[in-house]
Amino acid sequence: MKDVRTTGQRKRVFIRTYGCQMNVYDSDRMADVLRPLGYSLAENPEQADLVVLNTCHIRERASEKVYSELGRLRDLKVERRRDGADLTIAVAGCVAQAEGQEIIQRQPAVDIVVGPQAYHRLPELLARAARQSDDRRADGRRLPGAGVLDTEFPAESKFDHLPAPSAADVRAGSAFLSIQEGCDKFCTFCVVPYTRGAEYSRPATAVLQEARGLVAAGAVELTLLGQNVNAYHGEGADGSTWTLARLIRALAEIDGLVRIRYTTSHPRDMDDDLIAVHGDVPQLMPYLHLPVQSGSDRILEAMNRGHGRDHYRRLVDRLRGVRPDLALSSDFIVGFPGESDADFDDTMRLVDEVGFASAYTFKYSRRPGTPGAALGDQLAEDIKTARLAALQSLLGRQQRDFNASKVGTIVPVLFAEAGRKPGQVLGKSPWLQSVYVEGDADMIGRLVNVRLLAAYALSLAGEVATGEAPPRFEVAA
Ligand code: 5AD
Ligand code: SF4
Repeated sequence: MKDVRTTGQRKRVFIRTYGCQMNVYDSDRMADVLRPLGYSLAENPEQADLVVLNTCHIRERASEKVYSELGRLRDLKVERRRDGADLTIAVAGCVAQAEGQEIIQRQPAVDIVVGPQAYHRLPELLARAARQSDDRRADGRRLPGAGVLDTEFPAESKFDHLPAPSAADVRAGSAFLSIQEGCDKFCTFCVVPYTRGAEYSRPATAVLQEARGLVAAGAVELTLLGQNVNAYHGEGADGSTWTLARLIRALAEIDGLVRIRYTTSHPRDMDDDLIAVHGDVPQLMPYLHLPVQSGSDRILEAMNRGHGRDHYRRLVDRLRGVRPDLALSSDFIVGFPGESDADFDDTMRLVDEVGFASAYTFKYSRRPGTPGAALGDQLAEDIKTARLAALQSLLGRQQRDFNASKVGTIVPVLFAEAGRKPGQVLGKSPWLQSVYVEGDADMIGRLVNVRLLAAYALSLAGEVATGEAPPRFEVAA
């Protein structure tokens, strides 16, 4: 549990995070904003005075899950009020941004709806909600929330107003660092440009300062986050524009920072220097999440991805040219409107040709307001299901083969948590594989060399290795 510095009344907040790593980062920032108000973290809604649902809108079912969770929270609120207490309910994240007022209409027990750009205003929203809730209760209406809404894209950046991350934001030696938000690419299936707004890059000086703070607080690994992280173009100290490549080179100068990762990137923004950085900077891990979505030129065009399959192939070749042990991961969507058998075969062929170490696969889902939703030729569910199964089976085989290819080698593992079985600890290899060894809890948060002994579909087993450090990887003392 996080430290509490109480300047106000002692209260508890439960934050449930849905979706991507950006949301995990944002949930931490919300906890940071709330801490000075006297909020510590609760482990479940039952223990909490305030519940925040940090939502994701990427796929349909995600928002339905939010509404059913809100129904349960409403019941909890009714119970509390019967006992003369209360529960404040806040909806944050991309569903909050996309649906705004509708959330309050559909579930009147909700007190606050706050979009991803307005988290720094949470204290003010809570105060307003408390006032309005009292007024409405005095009014005698049935179980109202306060219905306070903030889904603006304020002129001031939330990053300038959020507290700096602290030791509480470093988990077992690893921390996220958000450097870029929003997206101007407008892929025709995607809601992100509407929910997260236009692309914004944080100034490089702010990023470097936060990075140094996180390393001083115990981070040996940083994952740079952004919806379109390699489109990064932040202002440098000298007023010039820094690319992601330049930022990574500067981060690599920080003493004690041993692992750097970034996610999620777009094939169109892999510039020459960024490719070169993969060869030049040993701290940059040899694993890249580079979503391609489809292997068909026709579908890539309909998705407005702005590149074809050959561009992707060439990028992969160049990246492997400078970093031969680079492993790739990707997102795939099957069943985009108009996707024919031949288009899907192109995707299967691309997967076969590239070889992925891991992947996320999705059936296309219609997101209201996106151009894709208005297209004709939406595919039947059973076609999507069959294609997804075929793709997953191929990718699953590739992942098992990739894991098996590492057996017998020694790699540094950053240990993150206790394993499921007593006496086991679980960590991540440079390629983000889960690795189990017999070991002590004091290994958590440390990089330890491990000899890999056996590979499974989703993980590897190993033993702590003595002796030589593996080439190319620096291991912290
Ligand atoms: N349907 C299915 N998958 C989607 N994604 C984004 N929008 C949709 C959608 N409408 C997937 C993409 C993206 C990942 C985060 O989610 O593959 O890269
Ligand atoms: Fe969505 Fe495309 Fe932007 Fe990625 S690049 S966030 S898929 S619009």
